[in-house]
Amino acid sequence: MNIERIQKASGMVGRSDAIHKVLDMVAQVAPVDISVLVTGESGTGKELVAKALHQNSKRAQNPLVTVNCGAIPEGIIESELFGHKKGAYTDARGDRKGYFESANKGTIFLDEIGETPLETQVKLLRVLESGEFTPVGASTSKKTDVRVVAATNKDLSELVENGKFRQDLFYRLKTVTIEVPALRHRVEDISLLVERFALEFTRSNDIVYRGFIPEAIRTMKTNPWKGNIRELKNFVESIIVLEKGERITVEMVERNLGNIKKESTQNPALPMLMNQPPEAAERELILRQLFLLRQDVEFLKQFATQGSVVTDQMNVPIIGQEANALTPSLHIDSESEYFIQNNSIGDMSLEDLEREAIERTLKFFRNNRRATAKSLGMSERTLYRKIDQYGLERKIKV
Ligand SMILES: Nc1ncnc2c1ncn2[C@@H]1O[C@H](COP(=O)(O)OP(=O)(O)OP(=O)(O)O)[C@@H](O)[C@H]1O
Ligand SMILES: [Mg+2]
Repeated sequence: MNIERIQKASGMVGRSDAIHKVLDMVAQVAPVDISVLVTGESGTGKELVAKALHQNSKRAQNPLVTVNCGAIPEGIIESELFGHKKGAYTDARGDRKGYFESANKGTIFLDEIGETPLETQVKLLRVLESGEFTPVGASTSKKTDVRVVAATNKDLSELVENGKFRQDLFYRLKTVTIEVPALRHRVEDISLLVERFALEFTRSNDIVYRGFIPEAIRTMKTNPWKGNIRELKNFVESIIVLEKGERITVEMVERNLGNIKKESTQNPALPMLMNQPPEAAERELILRQLFLLRQDVEFLKQFATQGSVVTDQMNVPIIGQEANALTPSLHIDSESEYFIQNNSIGDMSLEDLEREAIERTLKFFRNNRRATAKSLGMSERTLYRKIDQYGLERKIKV
């Protein structure tokens, strides 16, 4: 199969040996009805690989059903995957088809497979081996004809060691593994990717595009890009907006990649790009928001009780690690270990803090739950549960 054709159809850009190895694997295994595990860091293009596998299989005319295993609450995951019979739950008013049935004759893409609960993993193994599954509440099993592509950015063997992933399912899945390389291992693809993202973005937003000077691209090749292609794409789009359609120079790239720290000292409230992994930058922005909110609360409290405010006391200290993330832009008293000021103690519970952090983070990421869960350091499933628990579903509007 022709690699160029695969690239054109899937939109996978690149000419490095590393990406060619991935495309060769896709060409080789796509037409064969075998399950495939796609691994790689976040933002490397695992979903694009899954799409390419489907597009180049004999199932291409049938559905590709994508399931984010990490986002479905534990209580309903089996009914989502395998369906349920009428009456299986109190509110199950009719039979419901699951994803495995909907994907019949096509491909099912199980994204974030490492997040699947252990009990569900047994059932996945069964359907992978025999095509059989039993809807929740049913007494007989059904058959489906699906090709399984699974993806993860976790180290599944480590999960197996820790008892979080079944060994038998791991062995069943890993026979054909496509490892998508990190962007820092294929920097020669950066120029093509930048060109593609810049053109797509300027075209769809009607912005004049004057290009990047070659030295600017060279500078971009030295950045670590821990968020991989997703981070590069966001960077290209933001620099084009911030530099207002100018030809992009080395100086602009450097400024947007690193020197922003200086500006953030002047106004800590402004969201800025930082020379650090996106997760760390996002975390810093959220902490900063929480810090400012605390300041507001303190300000109002002092104003209400004393009619005046002592500004020196508003340097709210932050716990250990977070303190490092925020210095030097906020002048944190490193001697002190507490995040919450003494006069707030007694007024707030851990739940209050958690609810506030979740609500504000969701708003910050415009309701993107994956990004919210990541930056708060919780699984998507836990986030869904907390949203439900705090009734945030109704409150958050973007
Ligand atoms: N080779 C490529 N050429 C062009 N765009 C790409 C390429 N690889 C990835 N992208 C783009 O980068 C972004 C991230 O890709 P994708 O969602 O497939 O990553 P992922 O590995 O599934 O990440 P995660 O683990 O976070 O889910 C998407 O916008 C995708 O279109
Ligand atoms: Mg993905």
